[in-house]
Amino acid sequence: MKTDQRLKDGSYRNLRSAGFSCHQLSRNDHSSHINCNSASSVKGRVYLVGAGPNDPELLTLKALRVIKRADVIVYDRLVNREILDFAPAHCQQVYVGKRCGQPSLEQQEISRLLVEFAVLGKTVVRLKGGDPFIFGRGGEEALMLAKHNLEYQVIPGITAAIGCAASSFIPLTHRQVARSVTLVTGQVVTGALPAWSQLVNAGQTLVFYMGLEKSDQISTGLMEYGLSGDFPLAIVTHGCSPQQIVHVTSLDQLVSKANELKGVSPALIILGEVVKLRKELQTTVESVISQEEV
Ligand SMILES: C[S@@+](CC[C@H](N)C(=O)[O-])C[C@H]1O[C@@H](n2cnc3c(N)ncnc32)[C@H](O)[C@@H]1O
Repeated sequence: MKTDQRLKDGSYRNLRSAGFSCHQLSRNDHSSHINCNSASSVKGRVYLVGAGPNDPELLTLKALRVIKRADVIVYDRLVNREILDFAPAHCQQVYVGKRCGQPSLEQQEISRLLVEFAVLGKTVVRLKGGDPFIFGRGGEEALMLAKHNLEYQVIPGITAAIGCAASSFIPLTHRQVARSVTLVTGQVVTGALPAWSQLVNAGQTLVFYMGLEKSDQISTGLMEYGLSGDFPLAIVTHGCSPQQIVHVTSLDQLVSKANELKGVSPALIILGEVVKLRKELQTTVESVISQEEV
């Protein structure tokens, strides 16, 4: 079945809860050959949009503008569903999962879906948590669109590191405390570990995305290369949401804390002397974001 037929049939309708049947449909049509050169077809446009970290108010005006006129929104697990309410009534919403270690559409198939919709002339919003180009595989999707000669635009979003730092009163850089900040993924495709020696320089803040499952390697690697056991760290769970909790601890406690938090997602690890500033910076300004600290 072709994608336009599926749209007419409503196979892609209400896919918030049926993302994987869409996977099957896409898989079964065997249309690996996508014709993008048909002179008669009016090609659509794809927007790779960052939804920011949870809080819908962290969306950019540009993102909101394209969401409001989307024909199709293809979205990930970390996107706050409230954002989808900004879409027009006719908009098809396609959930494509994406959680580490959990079933989701293959990246290749997600990219192919974007191409198929664009070829049909649709205005497609590919909505991703945080920023599309920070550990979001937005580059792979952009490459696929470029390969098919399709028009696309990247609309940045606030990445989890920036959002969680702000919402938990931890400045990622601070004069005389931290001169640089490094974003690191705990999940490396090859399974290769980061170059620990480069992550232990003084005056550096480290932010690990998807790091809880790799807490053992992270703490061993960093301590082996010179960071002390009492090096400050914070784990921010459900950052920028009413469920946010900031777990303040130290490097030698990372593994036990991670075991305690097993299965809690999303979670971000911030390591650095800057974590100590939180106490002083925390204010009583009313906010929907929880300031619970444990
Ligand atoms: C696949 S990465 C996507 C990152 C995203 N593109 C970004 O720029 O934030 C998912 C990881 O980002 C982190 N993350 C994303 N949103 C978060 C949030 N609201 N609170 C805490 N961590 C978050 C977690 O480490 C999570 O496992």
